[in-house]
Amino acid sequence: MSEPGAEEYLPRGRSLRTLRAAVQDCHGCDLYRDATQAVFGEGPAKARLVLVGETPGDREDLAGEPFVGPAGGVLRKALAEAGIEVDDAYLTNAVKHFKWRPQGKRRLHQTPRAGEVNACRPWLEAEVDAIGPEAIVALGATATRSLFGTKVKVMKDRGKLLKSDLVPLATVTIHPSAVLRAGDDRADAFDSLVADLRAVADAMAA
Ligand code: URA
Ligand code: SF4
Repeated sequence: MSEPGAEEYLPRGRSLRTLRAAVQDCHGCDLYRDATQAVFGEGPAKARLVLVGETPGDREDLAGEPFVGPAGGVLRKALAEAGIEVDDAYLTNAVKHFKWRPQGKRRLHQTPRAGEVNACRPWLEAEVDAIGPEAIVALGATATRSLFGTKVKVMKDRGKLLKSDLVPLATVTIHPSAVLRAGDDRADAFDSLVADLRAVADAMAA
């Protein structure tokens, strides 16, 4: 449980390309030990919109790309419904290595601890810095904490335009995996995610 943090692993050059290469050597916390690889963000280098999830899941860990599993499917559908071209957005995560524990033959996702989220934040900040987007959306509590600290809460602040040092427009919403867990309320949860994404799209258009 050591978390020296990612800062000393960041390269001198801060382009997305150099960052993406360097993250594979990060030992800023212990999560690199049990993961296949670091999963960096994906999308246009000059994307106007950055979406931040929690950590790569099982599928992302194997593929080396964010949001290629079930939650990614929900996110892509919600973006399309909100009128946002997924190829115009940059998708990334607050924590770059998959955290899991074994359950039988499966690898069960674990929510990263605050210390791990803090350790990984330099990568996220460097990514956002390199892109210079107009808007950023935190998906779920982990990304919200990483980007806005503990004062902003998903359920209280979702869909609101928030102050951020990083970008002109920022907001938070639920994580797409919350839609998958919503049971009978799945359709409502999905619609509420779309509404929050649409609020950002409208603000960007204005
Ligand atoms: N959930 C996330 O938060 N990020 C991914 O990349 C996949 C699932
Ligand atoms: Fe580094 Fe982040 Fe991976 Fe921890 S999770 S080792 S800080 S890249």
